[in-house]
Amino acid sequence: MSTRHAIDPSAPLVIEAQDLKTHFQGRSGILSALVGVKPPSARALDGVDLRIREREIVGLVGESGCGKSTLGMTLVRMYQPTDGQILYRGEDITKVEGRRLKAYRHSAQIIFQDPYSSLNPRLTIGQVIEEPLIIHGIGTAAERREKVIRALELVRIPAEGNIDRYPSDLSGGQRQRVAIARALVLEPKFIVADEPVSMLDVSIQASVLELLDELSRELGLAVLYISHDIATVGYICNHVAVMYLGRIVEEGRSEDVLMRPLHPYTQRLMDAIPRMTPGETPERIELRGDVPSPLAVPPGCRFSSRCPYATALCEAVEPALSDQAEAHRVRCHIYDDRAARAHPDLPAPRAGKITEVAETGALVAAAEDARWQS
Ligand SMILES: Nc1ncnc2c1ncn2[C@@H]1O[C@H](COP(=O)(O)OP(=O)(O)O)[C@@H](O)[C@H]1O
Ligand code: SF4
Ligand SMILES: [Mg+2]
Repeated sequence: MSTRHAIDPSAPLVIEAQDLKTHFQGRSGILSALVGVKPPSARALDGVDLRIREREIVGLVGESGCGKSTLGMTLVRMYQPTDGQILYRGEDITKVEGRRLKAYRHSAQIIFQDPYSSLNPRLTIGQVIEEPLIIHGIGTAAERREKVIRALELVRIPAEGNIDRYPSDLSGGQRQRVAIARALVLEPKFIVADEPVSMLDVSIQASVLELLDELSRELGLAVLYISHDIATVGYICNHVAVMYLGRIVEEGRSEDVLMRPLHPYTQRLMDAIPRMTPGETPERIELRGDVPSPLAVPPGCRFSSRCPYATALCEAVEPALSDQAEAHRVRCHIYDDRAARAHPDLPAPRAGKITEVAETGALVAAAEDARWQS
């Protein structure tokens, strides 16, 4: 498995989230309004700490509905956080408005999953990329054209012959490159890539991920790479954070988290990666059950309703993140006996199986084979 080099811990921090929360207030129905009961809020993002340095790619993984997009949208201030702090290069931008918010939005860009609907089909490639410059009132027409050409160069699309084409003329991979160029034209320092390859053919996923990797190094970008698929995360990330029901349950260097997953949830995500055994059809082991609703977060460990090791202690007391190895942290009572000692009356979970995962399986293998096929 290819994982990225470790990041220099002295590299400047670009983005930092501290105990970040985004709760969505439910709408009042007539009945709840009449009896004066406040509808429950969805605790989509519920206390997350995260740091991303220059040239670092942090992978955020978890099943659909875990709160990954909410974290991404909150970090770029498309959602207003309910609580906690966001620091951008040390500046608190959690509540900035007006010109300061506009300046931040200039520096922090988001790339979405769907390259088919994210580009206006009536605009040419050149116009699509120029639009953010016009919105932000940047440059003369000639200066903007220069910047558009430079952005196309960055995503390895020759401007000549492409700048006046329409998105419908391009393949999915090329459209996602144009979406990346549109994000880069404002010269951001922080990029959220929210499932940027999950709608692309497996054969071209690797080349788009590789581009993100190269851009992060070349431009010193801090990148939050969001994926529901833990296999693609191993491909480009320095650091991986695993999210479950609004919280990080495990994080650490990619090689540590992916080769030696500790949390029962991470272990199951790894088990669910299809394996390529010669002569056999790849088998996908599904995770049973669904992520509980953020409208009704269970007490205790949030994973307890699906965890094979859960005990009464897990159902009653939420574990804290605890340090295991260097920079490898996990939120599970199996690895931290503080709660068990505080509640000797409640049975504690016993050590789970620690999977040594040698290879990440089919997707990465296929992606590596297809590296240059965009
Ligand atoms: N604007 C919103 N209003 C209400 N609930 C939302 C909103 N956005 C997301 N949610 C809820 O928050 C949870 C997390 O969603 P999301 O961040 O999109 O997860 P993911 O990206 O991991 O699939 C889901 O239960 C979703 O229904
Ligand atoms: S704390 Fe308990 S329920 Fe939660 S992951 Fe660990 S063993 Fe499973
Ligand atoms: Mg999402």
